[in-house]
Amino acid sequence: MIGHSVAYSRSVITELMVPSYANFGGKVHGGTLMSLMDKLAYVCASKHAGNYCVTVSVDNVQFLRPVEVGEVVSLMGSVNYVGKKSLVVGIKVVAENLQEGVSKHTNTCYFTMVAKDTDGSTAEVPPLILESEEDVRRFCSALQRRRIREEGVTFMNDYKAAFTDHFAVADLLQAERCILASSLIESTPSH
Ligand SMILES: CC(C)(COP(=O)(O)OP(=O)(O)OC[C@H]1O[C@@H](n2cnc3c(N)ncnc32)[C@H](O)[C@@H]1OP(=O)(O)O)[C@@H](O)C(=O)NCCC(=O)NCCS
Repeated sequence: MIGHSVAYSRSVITELMVPSYANFGGKVHGGTLMSLMDKLAYVCASKHAGNYCVTVSVDNVQFLRPVEVGEVVSLMGSVNYVGKKSLVVGIKVVAENLQEGVSKHTNTCYFTMVAKDTDGSTAEVPPLILESEEDVRRFCSALQRRRIREEGVTFMNDYKAAFTDHFAVADLLQAERCILASSLIESTPSH
């Protein structure tokens, strides 16, 4: 299978934030930005894969600063990592106030996409040709995030399987801002 460079599928979406994108607080709705990011991830992933792609997970979604109505948002996306059937698209979001000439970085996140054949089964994706140190750093960073995610899944599965009741986590809960209902406090430990 012939590989493609990162540049082959690198893409940008630029969009003016119109008033209909605002939430009740007058800022741009987070869901609007998520939708734009998902579209860009699809473009980059499908271009690299040469196939239809679906979104399977999103890492590191944080809205570091609010985006204002009237600002121009640019989303820059590139394939960071390729597995067998999945690929990771890294997306950087920058919002620019055209009148003041000021730009702010509002988010960088990572979409994991899976390629599908025309019959709907998962499909192998072409290798990624790394041409710069930045390409290598992003590929290796994605590998680390994948490793942490897989370890996190194992950790939580083990935790859930080992969880018994609130008596076993009394010390933990004491340090948190929660209030146990009296019905729980009066219940009998199960162990
Ligand atoms: C994506 C999907 C096909 C994966 O199915 P699956 O049976 O887990 O497929 P596989 O086990 O063959 O995994 C395929 C790849 O997806 C990756 N993957 C699966 N679940 C994942 C997850 N939760 N997070 C990240 N990667 C995941 C696997 O690691 C594997 O990667 P690799 O081939 O590079 O090693 C399936 O979960 C799906 O159809 N989800 C719905 C996607 C969708 O409709 N999205 C639109 C939003 S509603």
